[in-house]
Amino acid sequence: MRKILVIHGPNLNLLGKREPGIYGNVTLQQINSALKKIAQKRKVSLVIKQSNHEGKIVDLIGKMKNKYHALLINPAAYTHTSVAIRDALAASGVLTVEVHLSNIYAREEFRQKSLISPVVKGTIMGFGLKSYLLGLEALIDLLSMST
Ligand code: DQA
Repeated sequence: MRKILVIHGPNLNLLGKREPGIYGNVTLQQINSALKKIAQKRKVSLVIKQSNHEGKIVDLIGKMKNKYHALLINPAAYTHTSVAIRDALAASGVLTVEVHLSNIYAREEFRQKSLISPVVKGTIMGFGLKSYLLGLEALIDLLSMST
């Protein structure tokens, strides 16, 4: 069975209460249950992690090889700042899709750059919860094409 890792970056544990005008009312738990439903339906196994710490995320990515076939990641604020997460992804060589709830290009200037996008397969943003679901479906499709 194909194994996919999901990483939620900093402050995504606060979803539901955090800036609902931007991120909506959906909670992280609701996102995770929706992802698990898709995983069950499409017969892949999912491991889900959330961390507020850059180094922890770097470690998770570093340990991915030979353990997971693909990664779905919302690097949250680290999207715009973390050379370390970008380098970890580039080094891992693991098939990765980046997702964001909001459209980062429609927001403040400091968010209008992703250090992560150049080293991932693709990026889906702006669709709220649906960004995650589309991202997971894309990964599963890509994995099933590669068998
Ligand atoms: C985010 C966008 C980031 O700019 C922000 O720091 C987040 C969430 C999103 O999902 O829209 O924490 O990654």
